[in-house]
Amino acid sequence: PPSKDFKQDAKAALSTEIPLDSNLGRLTTGTGNPVLSNQTSQTAGDLGPVLIQDFHLIDKLAHFDRERIPERVVHAKGAGAHGYFEVTKDISHLTCAKFLSKVGKRTPMFARFSTVGGERGSADTARDPRGFSLKFYTEEGNYDMVGNNTPVFFIRDPLKFPDFIHTQKRDPRTNIHQEDMKWDFWSKVPESLHQVMILFSNRGTPDGMRHNHGYSSHTYKFVNEQGHVHYFKWHFRTNQGIKNLSAARAAELEGTDPDYATRDLFEAIERGEYPSWTAYVQVMTEEEAFNYKHNVFDVTKVVSQKDFPLQEVGRFVLNRNPENYFAEVEQAAFSPSHLVPGIAPSHDRMLQGRLFSYPDTHRHRLGPNYLQLPINKPLAPVLNQQRDGPMCFTDNGGRLPNYEPNSFGGPAEDHRVRETDLESTVKGYIGRHTYELTDADFEQPGKLYNLMSKSEQQDLIDNIAGSISQAQLVFQHNIVPHLKRIDSDYGNRVEAILKQKNANY
Ligand code: HEM
Repeated sequence: PPSKDFKQDAKAALSTEIPLDSNLGRLTTGTGNPVLSNQTSQTAGDLGPVLIQDFHLIDKLAHFDRERIPERVVHAKGAGAHGYFEVTKDISHLTCAKFLSKVGKRTPMFARFSTVGGERGSADTARDPRGFSLKFYTEEGNYDMVGNNTPVFFIRDPLKFPDFIHTQKRDPRTNIHQEDMKWDFWSKVPESLHQVMILFSNRGTPDGMRHNHGYSSHTYKFVNEQGHVHYFKWHFRTNQGIKNLSAARAAELEGTDPDYATRDLFEAIERGEYPSWTAYVQVMTEEEAFNYKHNVFDVTKVVSQKDFPLQEVGRFVLNRNPENYFAEVEQAAFSPSHLVPGIAPSHDRMLQGRLFSYPDTHRHRLGPNYLQLPINKPLAPVLNQQRDGPMCFTDNGGRLPNYEPNSFGGPAEDHRVRETDLESTVKGYIGRHTYELTDADFEQPGKLYNLMSKSEQQDLIDNIAGSISQAQLVFQHNIVPHLKRIDSDYGNRVEAILKQKNANY
C-alpha cells in the first residue's frame, strides 16, 4: 500500500511507471531535429560568446521565457481530477439534456476546485469560498457547472464584481491585503453579509477539497422535450462528510503546508479512495419561482429546502489524477455559458454577466482557440464555420465551406434543439432597475446565525471580529450596525470584542 508520505509515493510512482534506465528515445528540438548537446552551448572559441545560430539554445530559452500564461484573474489556485457522472434517478420529465436521460447513464467529466482571491502560488487553506467547477463531456457537447461551495454569493449585480474582487486582492499602493478594503466595501454593500457570515464561519476554511458540498448558487432553467420550463438549483453533497479546519489550524497550514488541499486530493485518488458527491436539484415550476416569497434569481439568497426539497439526480466520482497539471488543470476553461440543450440560463443578473465574462477571459488567458485544447475539446464532433486565429491546431475545417448557408450540404442547423421562450419572463422598460436593500436581506443570515451551535457561533464571532478589528475604526463603526440588524446578539458580541481590542472604539 502507498505510504502516507506523498513525496515517497510520488517517487515510487515515478520509478514504477518510468523505469530508471528506460530508453525514452533521442532528445530533439521542437522541430524534431536531433540535439547533439543539451549541456554545452555553441561558443566562438573557448572563451568566446554564445552564438545566435545555436537554435536549440535560443529555442529552449525563448520557450522557457513564455512558460507562464496569465493566471486566472480569480480562482487562480486550484486542483483538478477526472471522473464520471452517473444518473441514479430519472428526471427526463424535467429536462431533455441527453446526459441526464436515463438511469445508469455515465458521462466522463473533469472537476476543478479552487480558492478565489489568492494567486496561483497562494495557500490552499486561506479563508475564502471554494470554487466547484464541473465539466461534463456529453454527446451534445460540453456542459459546465461552475459553482462554489456556498449556496449564495456576495453581490447580485455583475457591475459590482470587479470592485468586489479588488477588495479581496492587494492594495494598489502597498501591494498588501488590506482589511480596510474588505470592510469598507461590505459595509456599503450589506447584501453581501449572508455570504460574509458563511465565509467567517468554519465553512470558510474547509479541510481539503473532498469534504465540502458544491452549489450552482444561481437558479437555472430545465427545458423538457415539450419545451416546458422548470427552474432549478444544483446541490452536490459530499459523500466524504463535511470537515472544516479551525482558524488556527488553517493559518498554521498556510505557513507549513500551503499545498495541503491539492496534496490531499491527489493522494486520495492515488490511494484509490475516490471522492464522490451525490447530485441533487431543487426544482420549481415557473409559477412557483415567480411567486416565491423572495426573488429566486437573487444569488444572495437561498431557496428553502423545506419549500423545495432536494431531489436526487445522480452522483459523480473522481477516479483519475491529471498526468500533467498545466495541460489539464491550468488550461481548463469552465464557463456557465457552456450549456447543453435542456439546461438554460435564467435571467439572474449575476449569471447573465458571467455568461459573457468567462469565455471572454478564456480568449485572453488561453487564446481564441481555447476550445481546441485537449482538456476543453468536446467529445462530441465540432462542425462550424469558425476558422483561423492564433494557435489553430486542428485541420481548421479542411476544405469544408467556411460560410453558411451553402449549397454543399451543411453542416446544417439542428432544429430539434429546444430554446426557451423568454417572452414570459422579460417584460417592462429598459432601465437600471435597482435592487433595494430591505429587511429580507438580513433575514436569511439571521436564520443561519440561529441555526449554528454555540461553538459555531463563537468561532464565527472570533473570526469575523479578528478581521474587522484590523480595519480602521470608521469601517468598524460602519459594519457593526448591519451585524446588529442581522441579529442583535451577533452584532453585540462582535462589538464587545472590537471594544476589548481597541479602547478608542
Ligand atoms: C472563475 C468572473 C461570479 C465561480 C472566474 C473567472 C472569471 C470570473 C473571469 C476566471 C475564469 C478563467 O480564467 O478560466 C466572474 C464574474 C462574476 C463571477 C464576472 C459575477 C458577475 C461567480 C459566482 C460563482 C463563481 C457567483 C459561483 C457560483 C467561479 C469559479 C471559478 C471562477 C468556480 C473557477 C473556474 C475554474 O475552476 O477554472 N470567475 N465570476 N463566480 N468563478 Fe467566477
